[in-house]
Formats: sequence, C-alpha cells, structure tokens
Amino acid sequence: MNFQEILSKASSRLKLKNIKSYKLDSELLLAKTLNISREEVLLNLNKTIDQSDIKKYNYFLKLRNQYKPIAHIINYKFFWKYKFFVNKDVLIPRPDTELIIEKILGILPLSSNKNILDIGTGSGCIAISLKKERPNCRITAIDKSKKAIKVAKKNAEMHQVGKKVNFFNIDVDKYLSSKYDLIVSNPPYIKHSELLSLGKDIKLNEPRLALSGGSSGLEIYFKIINKCRILLKINGMLFLEIGHKQGKELKKYLNLNGFNQTRIYKDLSGRDRCIVSTKNK
Ligand SMILES: C[S@@+](CC[C@H](N)C(=O)[O-])C[C@H]1O[C@@H](n2cnc3c(N)ncnc32)[C@H](O)[C@@H]1O
Repeated sequence: MNFQEILSKASSRLKLKNIKSYKLDSELLLAKTLNISREEVLLNLNKTIDQSDIKKYNYFLKLRNQYKPIAHIINYKFFWKYKFFVNKDVLIPRPDTELIIEKILGILPLSSNKNILDIGTGSGCIAISLKKERPNCRITAIDKSKKAIKVAKKNAEMHQVGKKVNFFNIDVDKYLSSKYDLIVSNPPYIKHSELLSLGKDIKLNEPRLALSGGSSGLEIYFKIINKCRILLKINGMLFLEIGHKQGKELKKYLNLNGFNQTRIYKDLSGRDRCIVSTKNK
C-alpha cells in the first residue's frame, strides 16, 4: 500500500465517526507514524508504507476514532507562530486565543519593557508567545495546576525562554507580588450546565480545571477582576478572553469595580472573544 491509498482509507474511517478534520488528521497521524513532516507525506504519496508502520498507524487511528484529540496523539499544537507541547494536563491552545495576542502586541512597541502577568497559563502559550514577540517585557505566568506549570516550563525551555519567563504554581487567590502594567488571562469560562454538552474529545480529554467557570461561567472572571484591582498599577490594562455571550455582563462588572475604557473585540467568526479594560483607581 502507498501513502495515498492508506490516507484515503484512513480519512474515510475518520469521516464515518463524524470527525470534521478527517483529511488533515489522517495526514498528521501518518506524519507522526513515519516521524516526518506532513509536507513530506504529501510530497511522497506514491511511496510504499511497510507493515510495521501500518500497524503503528492503525493504532493512532484507533485512538482518534475514540475521540482522543489529534493534539494529544501527536503531542503538539501550533499557536501564534510557535509549536507547543501538549498533553492531557493542559488545555489545547485554541486559534481564538490568538486574538488576545494580537490585541496586546498592538499596544506594545517592539522595545516595550512592561511588566506582564498571565493568569492560568496552561501550556504557557500566551506567556511564551508574548516573551518571544516582546523580549524586553518581564513576564510572569501562574497556574493553579502543578502539572500545567510543568508543561509550560517544558515549552519555555523548547523556545529558549526557560530562564526568561517566571512560572509559579499558585491559585490566583493566593498570589501576591509587586504591581503589573498588564495582566492577561484566558480563564475557564464554561458553565457547569454546559460541560456535558461539549464535544466528546473535549469533555473526555481536557482538564476540568481548565474548562469549568462554575455555575454562571463567570466565577473565575470575578475572582480575577477583583485580584487585578490589587495586582495592576493605576492605568494598567487587563486583557481577558471571553465566551461569546459573556461580554455584556463582564463589561458591567468591570465598570462597577474600578475599571473603565472597556472594549469588546470580536473573533474572525464575528463573535465577542476578548474584553480589554483599564484600571482607573
Ligand atoms: C482555559 S485554560 C487556559 C490555558 C492557556 N492560557 C490557554 O490560553 O490555552 C485556564 C487555565 O487556568 C488555570 N486555572 C483555573 N483556575 C485557576 C486559579 N484559580 N488560579 C490559577 N489558575 C487557574 C487552569 O489550570 C488552566 O490551566
């Protein structure tokens, strides 16, 4: 069997399971099997695959058919311009979260040396991307999950910023430090009642601590906003990723709790995705 034939069989199997990215996933899994890039797979479609690799490929396909996320099988996900190691201990970075990076970079010149905090860093994708793009900024990242901090540190090492980003395993409630110019967070924001209706690959594989925002979905936001009143300098800015129905309520809460100039930004599909606000007192 050649690459073309095995890919065609595999993508049909994934399609039958309603996996939307069936073509891409079958290619990524073949690349993982053969330890080559996806581009190399596509450039060698007539090449023959040997029996032991077919066995290995079928094993990966079986995992994907059981709704294990592709990022967990291949152990990486691209975010912004960088490749991040991921496993079951962290949220898989989402393309939607790149909006927050875009907005932050938009207000920070290349030479900026601001003091920045990332709350709930997970894989470290936000903190590390910011450090790579604005190397003079001082960046600290915290997470309540010890296992997530381990993954974030591994990613920082991979991107040669291991000693340049400070990571702490701590609950935002307990975190105290000197003041920041800018705080960013993509906190867990899914309502308890909505957790069950998430796709199987998400609810069976991604950490609950990274998903659940309590009964209203807003609990961690309120905690973060209250804490940021202490952690931010006057005129310091807060950037939060939000669920598409949460903007109105969060804007109200921010404006009642010491923040102003609050703006909401939409993602590429036209849904509210990010809220930015300035601490005024
Ligand atoms: C939605 S994930 C975001 C991960 C990463 N920043 C990203 O954008 O892909 C939220 C993260 O917040 C962390 N977290 C949840 N509650 C927290 C708390 N009270 N204090 C600190 N981190 C918390 C979780 O462990 C998880 O890693």
